[in-house]
Amino acid sequence: MLNNSDLILVAGATGGVGQLVVAKLLEKNLSVRALTRNQSKAEQMFNDQVDIVIGDIRYPDTLASITQDVTHIICCTGTTAFPSQRWDFANLFDPKNTPQAVDGEGVKNLIVAAPKNLKRFVFVSSCGVLRKDSLPFNILNIFGVLDAKLYAENTLKSSGLPYTIIRPGRLIDGPYTSYDLNTLLRAKTDGKKAVILGTGDTLNGETSRIDVANVCVECLKDEITINKAFDIINSGVRPPVVDWEKLFSEFS
Ligand SMILES: NC(=O)c1ccc[n+]([C@@H]2O[C@H](COP(=O)([O-])OP(=O)(O)OC[C@H]3O[C@@H](n4cnc5c(N)ncnc54)[C@H](OP(=O)(O)O)[C@@H]3O)[C@@H](O)[C@H]2O)c1
Repeated sequence: MLNNSDLILVAGATGGVGQLVVAKLLEKNLSVRALTRNQSKAEQMFNDQVDIVIGDIRYPDTLASITQDVTHIICCTGTTAFPSQRWDFANLFDPKNTPQAVDGEGVKNLIVAAPKNLKRFVFVSSCGVLRKDSLPFNILNIFGVLDAKLYAENTLKSSGLPYTIIRPGRLIDGPYTSYDLNTLLRAKTDGKKAVILGTGDTLNGETSRIDVANVCVECLKDEITINKAFDIINSGVRPPVVDWEKLFSEFS
């Protein structure tokens, strides 16, 4: 399912999960195009090991050339669930980089810009999208982050593109924003607890960013994962090697 001629676009490449996704793809000798709003941050992180492209998923006209020729897209973009500097308040009453704009409409823009022959669109969503009215998700959703994630999930499902949706719990490990890529590649790239996969948004717990990155890349190798949504958390004793194929096969 993956070969050396593939070109994988990672959106949100400078983020906690995104950096680990890039590192894992490079470890497998795959070609990466890194979508970022911040060239110097990406250059510092990735040197010349990836094709760095500048774009902002809120603005469709910045995406058209970026998605040209890519075979896969892994979308790890996100903003904070609650108001923060990362919402880019242009003025107090006109927040710009909100969950609705980034996690909802922004992801839709990326889906629309994807080549029609894309082999896979992997979208990092969130646990709780189907439980928005129950605690603690009703609190997490006060500013609409789960509404936006669900909107993006549904847009992807109806796009006709082959997709895999990943729904992590609360993220732990990283973000490794102070590390450059070589440090990341040398770092131990395994989480400490076992991986639990589910479907139907029923799991509760924490998820290592390392395993979110792992599942985003490992699912590309396995056709069973096409057009599926996986919940993922970490719990229990981790085996020496995580058998992703076996984990996925439980949902065939
Ligand atoms: N935090 C949690 O507990 C939790 C739980 C479940 C799911 N998630 C989801 O998991 C994913 C990864 O989380 P994370 O904490 O690793 O992310 P993160 O470190 O916050 O990184 C987010 C990335 O999104 C990019 N981004 C933000 N706005 C953008 C825009 N308008 N256009 C293009 N890129 C934009 C940022 O790039 P810049 O460098 O340009 O800012 C950054 O690379 C996110 O989708 C998040 O919603 C998080």
